[in-house]
Amino acid sequence: MTYINKLAEHVDTTVTLKGWVYNYRSSGSLVFIEMRDGTGLTQCVVAKDDVSEDVWEAASSLKQESSLEITGLVKADERSVGGHEIHVSDVQVIQITEEYPITPKEHGVEFLMNNRHLWLRSQRQWAAMRVRNEIIFAIHTFFQERNFVQMDSPIFTGNAAEGSTTLFETEFFEEPAYLAQTGQLYGEAMAMAHGLIYTFGPTFRAEKSKTRRHLSEFWMIEPEMAFYDLEMNMDLAEDMIRFIVKTVLDKRGAELEILGRDISKLTPLVEKPFIRMTYTEAVDILTSDATATMLDEMLASRKEEEKAIKQEREEIKKEHGSAKKWRKNQIDARIKEIGSRLDQIEEDYRNIPQWKQSAQNFEWGNDFGGSDETVLMMQYDVPIMVTNWPAEIKAFYMKRDESGKHALGVDVLAPEGYGEIIGGSQREDDLELMKERIAEEGLDKEVFEWYLDLRRFGTVPHAGFGLGLERTVAWLCGLQHVRETIPFPRMMGRLKP
Ligand code: 4AD
Ligand code: MG
Repeated sequence: MTYINKLAEHVDTTVTLKGWVYNYRSSGSLVFIEMRDGTGLTQCVVAKDDVSEDVWEAASSLKQESSLEITGLVKADERSVGGHEIHVSDVQVIQITEEYPITPKEHGVEFLMNNRHLWLRSQRQWAAMRVRNEIIFAIHTFFQERNFVQMDSPIFTGNAAEGSTTLFETEFFEEPAYLAQTGQLYGEAMAMAHGLIYTFGPTFRAEKSKTRRHLSEFWMIEPEMAFYDLEMNMDLAEDMIRFIVKTVLDKRGAELEILGRDISKLTPLVEKPFIRMTYTEAVDILTSDATATMLDEMLASRKEEEKAIKQEREEIKKEHGSAKKWRKNQIDARIKEIGSRLDQIEEDYRNIPQWKQSAQNFEWGNDFGGSDETVLMMQYDVPIMVTNWPAEIKAFYMKRDESGKHALGVDVLAPEGYGEIIGGSQREDDLELMKERIAEEGLDKEVFEWYLDLRRFGTVPHAGFGLGLERTVAWLCGLQHVRETIPFPRMMGRLKP
């Protein structure tokens, strides 16, 4: 048995593949099976004249997602999916599938989400999961090569760390407990034992918001470094993101193509330094006249585009009646494309004025909303790192600057409207200040005693950050919504399958 992604090693020899029928088409004395085996797709051709009657019958009985074993001669064929074609000599059916629910026609997202266990087999979903896998591997490689120790932080915890409003409560042998929002506090303890550590695990937030960036269960990577300040923390985050992007571009070009990802949006990141600015500078940009003008111009250009593509649609519709079949198909495809672009433009008409209003009225001291992040990011083609936040809107553990007004935190915002992918900071390392902070937040001092110990016994400056895996996958794959970046998403209203 061989695998489809190894076919190049078997050209002009006979191989056996095991897998599923992805697409099926027959015409007279030929059957075309687009077969998938988990590693890729390949075209298999069964010619009635070349096979026994039994084999022909087996081939003719196949349906979408039937499982099978195919034996045939591998031919190099550039026009074929994957670059090969199998000239089939034998077909062994494992199961003939009846009425596979996901057909090549279009389905709504709710339907696909309800069938997530099957949807995972579709090309785009398959490609996204492979990019996710590559990102995970790249992250481990990045940290392991730099002598970081991977640690597993607990999922049951006794303390809140990222605000009490997003806690999932549970019970731990009759004691109240929470699902971890972050592994950071435990990471800090481990960093005092190992110097450089990172966590890589599931985290939980009971955020009651249905947005394209929020999951209730998501995976976070949290490095924590003894003797690092904010600047070193940011350098590490930038290096890490650059390494991830470079790895995905190097190794997952085929998957990015399946996803239709415009990689010219990613290539600048391999070379260009990221933009660094303070929160105050970011607010100035957001509220500037230049930003307002940019949004006005964007709206105007959408109006022009709408006019142009509507006109194009009228013209090709007229042509449709007398067109040849191949041209008719082309026109149908283009009309569909125009339709979905018009939907997008329609959405922009609703969004842009709101974005503008929110940006212009932004007040220093507030947190950026999703739209503010989007507007800020529109002006750059690399991630921006926003630092020195108003202390009040950031977590209690962040160290403050000399004025005491700003938290030494950093948010990394991804381009193309993907928003915050990293949150991090230098940590408060002073015992007394940390005690004050815990009291101010109204946190239960008792449960934080162990955390205060880290400031009692050999405290050192230290820093770290958390990268959201799903937002990173969404961004690199160019996916609209984080629900497609994890095999079985958990979010408000979605617990099954
Ligand atoms: O900014 P956050 O809340 O930071 C922390 O949890 C820190 N303890 C990290 C640290 O310094 N060690 O979350 C970090 C990242 C966000 O930037 C975002 O990418 C992701 O986690 N994230 C979410 N991803 C999906 N769904 C959600 N509901 C998320 N909340 C945060
Ligand atoms: Mg954050």
